[in-house]
Amino acid sequence: MKHLISITDLDREDINYILKKAEEFEDVAMGKRKLRILEGKILGNLFFEPSTRTRMSFEVAMKRLGGDVINMTAQEASGVAKGETLADTIRVVSGYCDAIVIRHPLEGAARFAAENSTVPVINAGDGAGQHPTQTLLDLYTIKKECGKLDGITIALMGDLKYSRTIHSLIRALALFEMKIYLISPEALALPEDIIEDVNGEIKRARLEDVISEIDVLYVTRIQKERFPDEEEYRKVSGSYRITAETLKNAKEGMIVMHPLPRVDEIHPSVDSTKHARYFQQSFYGVPVRMAILSEVML
Ligand code: NCD
Repeated sequence: MKHLISITDLDREDINYILKKAEEFEDVAMGKRKLRILEGKILGNLFFEPSTRTRMSFEVAMKRLGGDVINMTAQEASGVAKGETLADTIRVVSGYCDAIVIRHPLEGAARFAAENSTVPVINAGDGAGQHPTQTLLDLYTIKKECGKLDGITIALMGDLKYSRTIHSLIRALALFEMKIYLISPEALALPEDIIEDVNGEIKRARLEDVISEIDVLYVTRIQKERFPDEEEYRKVSGSYRITAETLKNAKEGMIVMHPLPRVDEIHPSVDSTKHARYFQQSFYGVPVRMAILSEVML
């Protein structure tokens, strides 16, 4: 059984394999070619936290490959509201489907789900922990839009403390020869243990000092829901923002990425610049999730 819980479950070769497969699915993702390889298979979507892109792109990926999806209804309307444990929910749902996608506010929840499941479990975000399918689509975006992964200079900007997209992505970036800049307010810095854990070329920087050097600017929103108290959030709220003006010294081919949703950290004026790639990035979630689903289900 092949679970996908952390990006560290994969090595460079596995990642390259999934990205290559995703490329083969791109025309299917766009609806230009029909493929029914997951016909008769059912995916169980268990989202204990809000989601638009992740949940919908898993659903589209499944349907475009001929499969079907069951969704847990809102928690208030499910057995969870009656006090059912996560272990029991997983035991039951794994009897109804061929793989489970889970998003949960607690770090470690996806690993725990995998231990209680009889079918493969895919982590769609566990608290501030990991978000490996997002990382794969982020890598796919860089590869497609910059033409390569090795030799890229990338700046990770924003809430580096609580963003699971960052915690996942940085571990994968270190598998490739990338130069990584960290840009954040002091209070939102990347936790030291993650920096120590990641064996790569990493430096803290200010955007204005590196803007003309980077190939990718990856921005995240402040993860308001992870702050232990409202006051701490208020201190950093609105503390960084990219506009078209901020990017005037960027390289011609520099791309701006964002896992979305954005709040106020990327001004709409960036959308019409040649640098914006966040909407393309969210589309790439479909072929990448097709590649992941066909890997775990077939
Ligand atoms: C991200 C998440 O849930 O971690 N969203 C997503 O999956 N695209 C990013 C975020 O919520 O800021």
